[in-house]
Amino acid sequence: MRLDRFLTGQTALSRKEADALIRSGAVTVNGAAVRKPDTAVHAETDAVTLRGNPVIYSEFHWFLLHKPEGVITAARDPKQKTVLDLLKPEDRLPRLAPCGRLDKDTAGMLLITDDGGTAHTMISPKHHVAKYYLAQLRDPFKPDYPAAFRNGILLREGDADLQCQPAECAAIGSRLAVLELHEGKYHQVRRMFAAVGNHVEKLLRFQIGTLQLPPDLPQKCYLPIFNKDVESALKKSDISDACAFCAAYYSSYWINDSF
Ligand code: URA
Repeated sequence: MRLDRFLTGQTALSRKEADALIRSGAVTVNGAAVRKPDTAVHAETDAVTLRGNPVIYSEFHWFLLHKPEGVITAARDPKQKTVLDLLKPEDRLPRLAPCGRLDKDTAGMLLITDDGGTAHTMISPKHHVAKYYLAQLRDPFKPDYPAAFRNGILLREGDADLQCQPAECAAIGSRLAVLELHEGKYHQVRRMFAAVGNHVEKLLRFQIGTLQLPPDLPQKCYLPIFNKDVESALKKSDISDACAFCAAYYSSYWINDSF
């Protein structure tokens, strides 16, 4: 791979910026300054530095963001703040995109990646990756919700009914519900609770597969994540474990300001 391509794939530099830095002597390969942008490098084995800092190669990049309310899930938008705007300029690598979406007024775990193939597996209903939400409801959770959700809620879409896949739900407080979904229809959680006569006041996604939103990660902050975390996000999971985690760490999410 060419050195300039290596740099534009691993940093937020444009091709022009990368070329200028290489020509200025700011880039070394295996300890020696290299001033030709088309120099061939072995991405996995050569040691590349930029202004003295190592540039570690990774084929794909993943970030786990604690999305706050008020930010839209998009890569760019002419008017509104997007989740990618929350990344530091040096982390805004080319081809990064949100993996799935959360509504503007939903908070919680959002993965951002340039690995479109794995992102598709994670999002596609075919692969049954579970997403877990905590919903603060207007009215108390009713004992008949779990059966109604398991039977598949019907959502009104224009003149037609849209059948949801079976979903699990459980109460962790009188007005706090945990919901496990394997698909992502538009406003799905809000519309499912509306279909049973309730209303979602606040919504948080706290888990994907077995990958949990770290309780010490404040809103608007993010972490790079690696293969084992991505594998966790694809793993089969269980609503009772998710409920225990959520009850322990997120049941007062909207009460105190600690997030
Ligand atoms: N369901 C919703 O209603 N909103 C979200 O952001 C995610 C799931």
